Amino acid sequence: MAFGELKQRQSVMWGNGPYQHITETVTDIHARVIERLAPQLGIRWLDLACGTGAVAELAARAGASVTGVDLAPALIETARQRAQEQKFEIDYRVGDCERLDLDDASYDRLSSTCGIMFAPDHAATAHELARVVVPGGRIALANWTPDGGLGQMFKMMRPFMPTPPPSAGDPFAWGREEVVRELLGDAFELDIEECVSTLNIPTGEEYWQLFSSSYGPTKTAAEALDEDRRNEFHQTWVDFFDTHYRSDGGVSHSRQYLLVVGVRR
Ligand SMILES: C[S@@+](CC[C@H](N)C(=O)[O-])C[C@H]1O[C@@H](n2cnc3c(N)ncnc32)[C@H](O)[C@@H]1O
Repeated sequence: MAFGELKQRQSVMWGNGPYQHITETVTDIHARVIERLAPQLGIRWLDLACGTGAVAELAARAGASVTGVDLAPALIETARQRAQEQKFEIDYRVGDCERLDLDDASYDRLSSTCGIMFAPDHAATAHELARVVVPGGRIALANWTPDGGLGQMFKMMRPFMPTPPPSAGDPFAWGREEVVRELLGDAFELDIEECVSTLNIPTGEEYWQLFSSSYGPTKTAAEALDEDRRNEFHQTWVDFFDTHYRSDGGVSHSRQYLLVVGVRR
């Protein structure tokens, strides 16, 4: 599979399902990124891989002048509707964080929550981050770690998903401090810490119902399988969470991520 085909597939996959239900499971991460970047009146803010606009809305509410970019047209459509309903003037665009149609040094703040890590060309994305942020401007990224709960979930899903091209970067590499320093250290003064976001849900079955209906990667993988394999995927998912993340109150999925904060040199 060529890179162009992968991008095309990803742009459909992420928009497959009401992603809004999923973004509501990471609102603690959104809040932390907002707190670190402290939006203020008139500040130029770019939210990359913005999904349905959760972080963009928080920044706009604080008075920032916000642009949101995402690869998935369906998610941008939802984000635009939400902005209209809430009377936010957010400039939403369909676009690729590896090749942004934005001017050099045009943003004071740049955020991406569990977002840019999914673009396959990591060096191209890092180049764009450095290019569009003004000297002295700040970035905050939340990137799932490979060994944390989300990394483990993707390992569990992998046998049921199509194999990406060998040249595509592993998204979870963005969750390794040494890789992030290699990618961004020349352009940004970095402060990196590991944090945890926990998703609590009564059962593995309810987790499956939520993700197989609303999370693009899980829903798309399930839809592409024949009935036997889909049942196997379903059972594997339920067993995985009921076994590894069972707690007194149900399933407690701890999801570690790197919080990467940087100042443009
Ligand atoms: C897990 S979602 C996170 C969405 C949002 N940031 C949030 O916190 O809810 C990952 C997002 O990355 C977007 N994405 C993936 N590859 C991208 C790319 N190359 N350029 C821009 N967005 C991309 C997807 O469309 C999807 O909306």
